[in-house]
Amino acid sequence: MRKTPLVMRISKLLLTAVCFSAFSCAEKQLQQNDFISDLMSKMTLKEKLGQLNQQVAGEINTGSPQNTECGKAITAGEIGSVFNVIGVDKIKDLKTVAVENSRLKIPLLVGMDVVHGYQTIFPLPLGLSCTWDIEKIEKSAAIAAKESAANGIAWTFSPMVDISLDARWGRQAEGAGEDPFLGSEIAKAMVRGYQGTDLKADDKILACVKHFALYGAAESGLDYNTVDMSHLRMFNQYFDPYKAAVEAGVGSVMSSFNIVDGIPATANKWLLTDVLRKRWGFQGMVVTDYASIAEMQTHGLGELKENSVRALKAGTDMDMVTRGFLSTLETALNEGLISEDDINKACRRVLEAKQKLGLFDNPYKYCDGKIPVSVTYCAEHKAFAKELTEESFVLLKNENNILPLKKQGTIALIGPLVEARSDMAGTWSVAQDFSKYSTLKEAFEKYLNGSATVLTAQGCNLLDNEKTQNSIQKGHGTEPILRVDDEKALKEAVDIAKKSNVIICALGECAWMSGEGTSRSDLELPRPQKALLNELLKLKKPLVLLNFAGRATVLTKESKTVPAIMNVWFGSEIGAALCSVLCGEKSPSGKLTVSMPKSVGQLPLYYNTLISGRPVQDDNPEYIIFNSDYQDVSNGALYPFGFGMSYTKFEYSDITLSKTAVSESESLTAKVTVKNAGDYDGDEIVQLYIRDIYASICRPVKELKGFKRISLKKGESAEVEFEITPDLLKFYNYDLDFVLEKGEFEVMIGGNSREVKREKFEVK
Ligand code: NOJ
Repeated sequence: MRKTPLVMRISKLLLTAVCFSAFSCAEKQLQQNDFISDLMSKMTLKEKLGQLNQQVAGEINTGSPQNTECGKAITAGEIGSVFNVIGVDKIKDLKTVAVENSRLKIPLLVGMDVVHGYQTIFPLPLGLSCTWDIEKIEKSAAIAAKESAANGIAWTFSPMVDISLDARWGRQAEGAGEDPFLGSEIAKAMVRGYQGTDLKADDKILACVKHFALYGAAESGLDYNTVDMSHLRMFNQYFDPYKAAVEAGVGSVMSSFNIVDGIPATANKWLLTDVLRKRWGFQGMVVTDYASIAEMQTHGLGELKENSVRALKAGTDMDMVTRGFLSTLETALNEGLISEDDINKACRRVLEAKQKLGLFDNPYKYCDGKIPVSVTYCAEHKAFAKELTEESFVLLKNENNILPLKKQGTIALIGPLVEARSDMAGTWSVAQDFSKYSTLKEAFEKYLNGSATVLTAQGCNLLDNEKTQNSIQKGHGTEPILRVDDEKALKEAVDIAKKSNVIICALGECAWMSGEGTSRSDLELPRPQKALLNELLKLKKPLVLLNFAGRATVLTKESKTVPAIMNVWFGSEIGAALCSVLCGEKSPSGKLTVSMPKSVGQLPLYYNTLISGRPVQDDNPEYIIFNSDYQDVSNGALYPFGFGMSYTKFEYSDITLSKTAVSESESLTAKVTVKNAGDYDGDEIVQLYIRDIYASICRPVKELKGFKRISLKKGESAEVEFEITPDLLKFYNYDLDFVLEKGEFEVMIGGNSREVKREKFEVK
């Protein structure tokens, strides 16, 4: 008998193994479905609707949670999920009610807005994106998942991936900025970080990509406002990050508050079913945003029952807070407005999410101590958060290299954010414990440890308008920044500045000047802060502006008058991170992921624009009539997308392409040499942009298609190579097909979207 060659035997074995594992996966899936089917067959209609109902838990009496409103509803099987409960004991109590008191003992799904960390708080998502450090962003999500899991949380309403081109919209803070390519990489990383490869693992939680869709395109930057956009633009500029999250296996999706094509996203079947499920193959659960079914009535669309029906039929599975599903769908069913199958589909998806997390195997998962609560804000997590925070700072100006600072002499630390402990974590940090975080003053004193003297002063009010300041701060349980007498405060600040060798100003936005419901029409520094800065500048001392922000702000005047400016984006470790970067232990390496405008009137502003028929160069000094030009400001950003300085400087060689012509199925490579030609070690984020020069629809001037973060010691060089695959050249054509069209392409590589080396190739 002839022997089968070894390779064939191995491949046969492999094939058998693959078939076996595919078979066992399919079998497992069937068993799981059987389990859900079996469970659903026992459920009453009310119990099914209960699973679709999500509530805030309200006041919970530890020890007797069954007597609270929420406890009673859980007992009656009327709640499938609760959210934003802080504390593992409270959560365990609620879970106990579900397991011990409710008829079918269906475990409770507990969610929270863990947006940039649970208690170890990373920079705002916008700041995180400025690191362009995908591995570390993934790790930050994994840490957030672990701390959440230790504290009873099974589900986070993150990542928020809404593309945002208009910084008037305060929720720019919560996303990854203006670019769909970078946004997609970050979306995938965060889903991987939260969910891992096995959602049943004790330290993994369900992610929820939000807000589907286009929430960041709210007209006038006004939160919750209408969105109206061509489908072409949705597909080419806005949808990718949501799609990327789906491809990465995100378990849930949150619909957005806004209207899309005249219908609120909550009830938009085209979005929630045709695009999300049919086109992208999403199989998980869709939850509404907060009370958005009820808000459909305010939008002018019927009453609660009708809106609940529309939301369900569009593809919504869980109703956040409204109780519309719970209170109206039974009548709607009796009236023939929906079918039982509509309800069953949604109920199945909610139960499947619970099953994927392993909650049916262990309803007390996340409260069983398997991940000890002590991981919360532990030393290891803090150290990592500090590292990532350091990477997020974006140095915008450093005249005469006044940075890094010397650890000597006297440093004046001035501004409303110097002692604003409760603002340090930034917006949307539900479980933060700000009593544990240092103020900037404490961090500097600790770091300098007597090697330099630190003098501090608030210097001015945060805002002129006390009422607005109060609602910004009190609404979120933070310790308010003190109201001061402006004149007296200014005098104190000038006095200490006079005694100092260098002045550091901590100005800008406090935590809740960005985030949900925080639209602004003026993005300059608030008036009293500007006045303080102007007085301090008169002293002609070295001055560093730390611009705290949750969005792109307008620093046009400051860019001319202030010697050094650095954008910083909050986080529990911001104080320590600032000390090490300002004092040169690390060079700043963050790069902007939003274009910073010269004037708010330029908004929406973004680098990847289409070209008008009468374009004018960015920064063209003189106004040109009958052209795409402003009379009062030159075009382009003050600081463009991708921009950020280092203490060192990087030089780019010309681009070398592996080929100048390729077929539609071929890839090519583009290579540059980057040299650290300055005096410090540093990290550079090398960016690849591509332009499709002629196409069947108008295409942007450039689009980010790759990036690499590299570390170079001073004097060191590295070759950086990008592979340009056919997929990177594709776009959605007029029929919304994803196509590559033959012709000429331009490749651009550089350290920001404006200063790039250029080459061309052709697809034949
Ligand atoms: C409203 C916000 O839009 C959303 O991002 C958040 O997840 C929910 N509220 C729940 O808090």
